Amino acid sequence: MTIDSERKDQHVAFAEQQYQDMGQADFQKMRFVHHSLPEIAVADISLETKLAGFTMAEPFYINGMTGGSEKTKSINADLAAVAKLTGLAMASGSVSAALKDPSVSDSFAIIRKVNPNGLVFANIGAHHSLENAKRAVAILEANALQIHINAPQEMIMPEGDRDFTMWLRQIEEITAHVGVPVIVKEVGFGMSRETIRQLINVGVRTIDVSGKGGTNFAAIENARRTHIAYDDLENWGQSTLISLLEAQAFQQKAEIIASGGIKNPFDIVKALSLGAKAVGLSGQFLHMVLEDGPVKTAETVAAWKEQITTIMAMLGKTSVADLQQTDVIFQRDIIDWCDMRGLD
Ligand code: FNR
Repeated sequence: MTIDSERKDQHVAFAEQQYQDMGQADFQKMRFVHHSLPEIAVADISLETKLAGFTMAEPFYINGMTGGSEKTKSINADLAAVAKLTGLAMASGSVSAALKDPSVSDSFAIIRKVNPNGLVFANIGAHHSLENAKRAVAILEANALQIHINAPQEMIMPEGDRDFTMWLRQIEEITAHVGVPVIVKEVGFGMSRETIRQLINVGVRTIDVSGKGGTNFAAIENARRTHIAYDDLENWGQSTLISLLEAQAFQQKAEIIASGGIKNPFDIVKALSLGAKAVGLSGQFLHMVLEDGPVKTAETVAAWKEQITTIMAMLGKTSVADLQQTDVIFQRDIIDWCDMRGLD
């Protein structure tokens, strides 16, 4: 097994181990104000959203995770089966491993094989060339490409990248020329408004803030280390809720996606009400397919759709866009963050 394949298996194992004591993405610090007259009919509620030029029947999807080994091939097959059964979009994990070693390409291509007509996103790191980005899209016959930015993970990973000078330029080049829509995403450390502005300035139009509070790659890479522990860095980054507040000013210029620590329909609705056009879930879907298999996971997804509808009815909102007009309150430390950062 190559070091890449072994790492992919370790990521899955550690992420699943973490699942039980996953942190909080700060959504517990936000409450909706209840109003007693919803003035809408449930029959008028639509969960549809538009993202990167695609129409999605549901405002949530299976976010980037895995591929690159035999074990992760079967996880990708199960996740793709969930996507097929439910109509959810799905992203692969980083296709880097297959770009280096074509013998593992089928652990990614399986996603398209299982779900020929689904909405599929390929995924690569920001150090890759345009040429590699095109190869990644081709392997999955992907509809869009996720580019991940994960500097803390690379630094804590013993074999990680140590040169970040080209990332923004590579993102600009790939976004302009790869030929499919690009989503730039964090991997669970969240984003600042400065980062979001930099991405928009180089032409990125769809941004997944992927915040702290769920799968924790500082902790995962720390656990993979054999010497020099980085325990102090395991709390690095902005929560998903804070990241969405950092993104507020850019909603007209870019589509914002929420991910990081989102586990249930209530968190999904809260993220949408803070301006997310869609919500990505990784650790939660990994846990469900490992624990329950694809068929039961698809049943859970169907239940979630009903629960999202229920919450929208209680809020008196009939569309994802309308959810942005809800009345919300935040705990004091969230307001302090906004005050200190000069956010509205
Ligand atoms: C990830 N994530 C990820 N992201 C990415 O862009 N490329 C990748 O290859 C991976 N690999 C990966 C493996 C595993 C096992 C997990 C659980 C996650 C990060 C993921 O897309 C997301 O940003 C974070 O996991 C935060 O979301 P959750 O897991 O808290 O919902």
